[in-house]
Amino acid sequence: MTLEFPILRSLATRVPVVTALIVQVVAFGVVLGLLSRPLAHLPSPWSGYALLVAWGLLAALGTVLLLRSAWWWPIQVVVPWVVLLGIRADLPPWIWLVALVGSLVVFGGGIFTRVPLYLSNPSAWEALSALAAPGCRAVDLGAGFGGPMRALARAQPTGQFLSVEASPVTALVCALLALPYRRVQVRWASLWSQSLTDMDLVYVFLSPVPMERLWAKARAEMRPGSLVVSNTFPIPGVAPERVIPLTGRTDARLFVYRV
Ligand SMILES: C[S@@+](CC[C@H](N)C(=O)[O-])C[C@H]1O[C@@H](n2cnc3c(N)ncnc32)[C@H](O)[C@@H]1O
Repeated sequence: MTLEFPILRSLATRVPVVTALIVQVVAFGVVLGLLSRPLAHLPSPWSGYALLVAWGLLAALGTVLLLRSAWWWPIQVVVPWVVLLGIRADLPPWIWLVALVGSLVVFGGGIFTRVPLYLSNPSAWEALSALAAPGCRAVDLGAGFGGPMRALARAQPTGQFLSVEASPVTALVCALLALPYRRVQVRWASLWSQSLTDMDLVYVFLSPVPMERLWAKARAEMRPGSLVVSNTFPIPGVAPERVIPLTGRTDARLFVYRV
């Protein structure tokens, strides 16, 4: 027998981190409701520790089943202990709010796209600059701090370059770093709202999750012959025109696709 919960499945696919959080809260409620009485017979502090272990294991099981991805379990098992440490450290409650808001403004742009913040290295900038034709219009979708487009502007005496970033603080840093560059623009926006019709080159360094959708968008909007260049993550089922190895990580390479 398989149980299907379409709403939970869709939430799990779209925002795994929120799903993991909800599972933690539910596991806490279940364990507290079912086990607090029987465990109260154990001597202190063992009853409390047993509760934390049961809470973590239940959360891990629920998350692995819902997200169908095993690497969540160590995170979920550790969370109750982090909560305990937080309580014991007697931190003022506003610290948690500040930590949450701080994470959202730096990493929030990637929650729905499931793309964290990590940066292309200079070897990627160099290979990208060699691919850009003089006078080209290029965009970095999910620009982080904007290194790739600034590097293009330095390498190309002509052309227009755009960095699109969804996380507010990251976009602000990107905009400040781009101030000295006349030909680099920065947009604080979702990459899905960015029109690609005028672009000769799209650069991305995202994750495996959005690649198929991104290719569909590029094919629908870009002129034939323009380029989509993806750092590290290939487009599933599409043969790249070129693969350019990069220095650094062993899997670091640019996948070059022609629309
Ligand atoms: C891996 S970083 C790459 C940064 C930069 N492109 C580079 O190569 O140095 C991915 C960035 O994409 C941003 N991002 C994720 N989803 C996004 C979306 N839907 N719209 C715009 N930016 C997004 C993240 O906030 C993160 O800063």
